[in-house]
Amino acid sequence: MTSGKVRWAIVGTGGIGKRTVGDLRLCPDAEVVAIGSRSRANAEAFAQAHGLALSFDDHAQLCASPDIDAVYIGTPHATHFALAAQALRAGKHVLCEKPLTMTGDEARELGRIAAEHGVFLMEAMWMKFSPAMRKAVELVGQGAIGEPRLLQAGLGYPVPPDGPKRFWDAALGGGALYDMGVYTITLAQMFLGRLEAISVTGRTQPDGVDLEEAITLRYAGGALAQLATSITCLVPPRGWLGGRSGAIDFLEPLFSPGGLKITTGKPPAPPAVQELSFAREGAGYVPMFRAVNAAILAGSTEHPLHPVSATAEVLDIMQRIQAALAQERDARSAG
Ligand SMILES: NC(=O)c1ccc[n+]([C@@H]2O[C@H](COP(=O)([O-])OP(=O)(O)OC[C@H]3O[C@@H](n4cnc5c(N)ncnc54)[C@H](OP(=O)(O)O)[C@@H]3O)[C@@H](O)[C@H]2O)c1
Repeated sequence: MTSGKVRWAIVGTGGIGKRTVGDLRLCPDAEVVAIGSRSRANAEAFAQAHGLALSFDDHAQLCASPDIDAVYIGTPHATHFALAAQALRAGKHVLCEKPLTMTGDEARELGRIAAEHGVFLMEAMWMKFSPAMRKAVELVGQGAIGEPRLLQAGLGYPVPPDGPKRFWDAALGGGALYDMGVYTITLAQMFLGRLEAISVTGRTQPDGVDLEEAITLRYAGGALAQLATSITCLVPPRGWLGGRSGAIDFLEPLFSPGGLKITTGKPPAPPAVQELSFAREGAGYVPMFRAVNAAILAGSTEHPLHPVSATAEVLDIMQRIQAALAQERDARSAG
């Protein structure tokens, strides 16, 4: 970081790479210098389209480049672990798209490698960094809605069978849970404390790709989360958190809310409703990128808002949900 800026390489020339490159550039202490791809043609086209000096079609060469400080991984889920491990071992900081890995153990292993090499590692959970979510955490901490008791959140989009392969390919980590459920489970974990029990019902294909599910999480003290996700129908990306004296609505889209609606008061008195709006910076990833750049420049290996331990806990939950869905499918087909 000779220039006092973090010099980034994006890995993966697909949807998320294209969407985030502009937001990284809105951060004054970041510089996007490189693209990594499996194909030379893709790498060169991306570099040209976005004015990047360096393009790689070999991840080992990208990781060996002295001109790169940090790597942002935007590839299908099942590829994250290997790409991140290689970058961390080469001394690069890593910000990796969600879900960080396919299992909690893999996430913990990446955390261990990052610590061993003294480099930064985080899952790109931009939702946690959005100004609306920061405000919601602050309000709940101040007791604005009383003790949180019930969270309801949904997120799902119908993905056509001929849509992006990564949704339909089990080997790439396809399905609704790892792509979209990860947000709703992370949200529950943010507000409800210590998880005690999971129940789920849904539909999973024989190859393990989950189509849709309704999940209930029960937390110590009895707080509940009801979560829905799908790749076969539209589940509006919104949610609310109910507490003993009020509720917070997260306005759409849940993963980067434009605002909050806070309702307080007890019937029969009319409720007091306060609405807060938050300006979006770029495509919404800027607050996360800014925080990550600052953490890297400060020499941190994790960000306190989203440590690897929090990511691993969500992955542990997703593994249990997947196992329960597979059991349900097998029981149904046996019956
Ligand atoms: N935060 C958000 O808002 C958001 C939104 C969408 C997606 N995501 C996340 O971003 C990641 C990528 O999603 P996407 O929609 O961008 O996916 P995508 O367009 O299907 O793929 C991204 C790129 O990854 C590379 N790739 C594809 N298959 C690969 C493989 N088998 N091995 C290595 N690289 C491969 C390809 O680039 P090359 O051909 O150049 O190698 C591809 O263009 C996922 O983790 C997803 O959950 C996040």
